[in-house]
Amino acid sequence: MLKLEEEICKRGKIMNGEILKVDSFLNHQVDPKLMEAIGEEFYHYFKKYPITKVVTIETSGIAPALMCALKLEVPMIFIKKAQPSTMQEAYVSHVFSFTKNKSYTICLSKHLIDKEDHILFIDDFLANGQAFLGVEQIIREAGAVIDGVGIVIDKTFQDGHLLIKEKGYDLYSLAKIKSLDENGVIFDESL
Ligand code: G4P
Repeated sequence: MLKLEEEICKRGKIMNGEILKVDSFLNHQVDPKLMEAIGEEFYHYFKKYPITKVVTIETSGIAPALMCALKLEVPMIFIKKAQPSTMQEAYVSHVFSFTKNKSYTICLSKHLIDKEDHILFIDDFLANGQAFLGVEQIIREAGAVIDGVGIVIDKTFQDGHLLIKEKGYDLYSLAKIKSLDENGVIFDESL
């Protein structure tokens, strides 16, 4: 997606060889017009499926997931990273974050997804794919189907891209980055 690639080049900051800081438009301050365009892009690609719910993990997946859900006219669910006391019946899974070097628990209230559901999973970043594996386990437990995976920024030099493709999912990434270094961001148009 050209507009997103332009924003990454203009407003993104490379932190080290692996981390791209995008807190001026995606994961701290959020650019609503860009999110709208991202939602539309996902909508055009995934409208071929009978999606009933868009699912993400809090926090930064919420903005693109919501804009996509708005276009698809379905609810958006964000999986939580802590189980509130009001959530009694929950599917629970564990995710290891290589970026943060720690594990965290994710949970979803059982009444929100069932075996009739067709899920589109949306997230802001794909790095090692661990968050997706946790979500996949929860959605499988609920008996629902994952029709597609939409990623805003996919760091294809890490393991997540291949992991999701090899599982056979329809993965659509709006900006694919094959390297980050002092010379800038190199996008991957080949995958
Ligand atoms: P994985 O799920 O693909 O295995 O990713 P990983 O554990 O490595 O990433 C953990 C967190 O780090 C995720 O955010 C992810 O979005 C974020 N992240 C990964 N690579 C980058 C990057 O290059 N730049 C930035 N800015 N973030 C990155 P999170 O902890 O879930 O944060 P949030 O959604 O609550 O904001």
